[in-house]
Amino acid sequence: MQICRSISDCRATLATFRANGARIGMVPTMGYLHEGHLSLVDIARAQADRVIVSIFVNPSQFGEAADLDAYPRNETRDLALLKAAGVDVVFMPDVATMYPEGDETIVETTRLANMLHGEVRPGHFRGVSTVVTRLFNIAQPDVAVFGEKDYQQLQVIKRMVSDLHIPVDIIGGPTVREPDGLAMSSRNVRLSKDDRADASVLSRALNAAQAEALAGATVESLQKLISDMIADVPSARLTGLDIVAAETLNPLTGPLTGPTAIMISAAFGDVLLIDQKVVSP
Ligand code: PAF
Repeated sequence: MQICRSISDCRATLATFRANGARIGMVPTMGYLHEGHLSLVDIARAQADRVIVSIFVNPSQFGEAADLDAYPRNETRDLALLKAAGVDVVFMPDVATMYPEGDETIVETTRLANMLHGEVRPGHFRGVSTVVTRLFNIAQPDVAVFGEKDYQQLQVIKRMVSDLHIPVDIIGGPTVREPDGLAMSSRNVRLSKDDRADASVLSRALNAAQAEALAGATVESLQKLISDMIADVPSARLTGLDIVAAETLNPLTGPLTGPTAIMISAAFGDVLLIDQKVVSP
């Protein structure tokens, strides 16, 4: 496994693969890897001949410096996991490499980035699309894989790639869950023991909503079902519940008529968790 810290090194390594006709798959990450990331690597490996994983904790997508500082990091463990997963290249740039002196260019999906989670975290999706565009320009992958758990992020990236004619196929990887249903996330380690146990309410609420959707629910009845279930868990503070059209993320009302994304965010102590499910009537 080749570890590249500079853009020139990364490009040179990938050029040798491409010269042999290899299709390149990419999994962008912020490190502190878990089973969820490794499942994205597996998908990339199935879709491509060579796999590159980037590890870069992207400052421009964090609102507060404290959140950025608190983001967990473990380079040694990440590299061991990626090696065991059969990854070919790891790209680990520093901030000055990704955001060179005098940097001023941003990429923004103007509608998708500023609704839903983007309203509570201003600038977050702009930071994501800016860094992902830069990563794509560096690695020029044929295919890239992102988790469906960050559902709005996945829609932002699909829109951006389509609007900017970036020649990469975007694939969404299904959410990987702990045995009690909690979606895997690098943030889970920051939960207290009690909050960790309570946090499974998010996936329980989504499963209940899915069952209701099949039984002819309305957007309003799903909203009530989910908020009631979360209100029953005192440690959980519901910070966002959006029931929207799966692709456009436009708000819906009344009976479900097609694929519908349910996006939940909830705080446990100072840890903000998100989860989502696409349901159909
Ligand atoms: O999902 C993530 O880990 C990040 O938002 C991403 C896509 C790697 C961009 O920094």
